[in-house]
Amino acid sequence: MKRRIDGTGDRPAVAFTFAGQPCSGRAGDTVAMALWAAGEAVLRQSSKDGAPRSVLCNMGICYECLVVVDGVTVRACTTLVREGMRIERGGRP
Ligand code: FES
Repeated sequence: MKRRIDGTGDRPAVAFTFAGQPCSGRAGDTVAMALWAAGEAVLRQSSKDGAPRSVLCNMGICYECLVVVDGVTVRACTTLVREGMRIERGGRP
């Protein structure tokens, strides 16, 4: 997926929740980017040992960034943030 790199100030704000807390990103951000920008680095915990997991490849290959969006497990790095999304930590690799 190709994405244009530009400033964020000219893109509309997008409101969503993460782990039940209000967050915001910018239209065109991936969920991973919006969460990183909001200071949320831990996206899930390892099912093996409970270790915190986060973005690794940032291109849809490793599945380290799994989150649950509106009840569906998705890769945060390949999912665009949308107004009103309910995002939870979780997902299993
Ligand atoms: S960070 Fe690797 S699939 Fe998302």
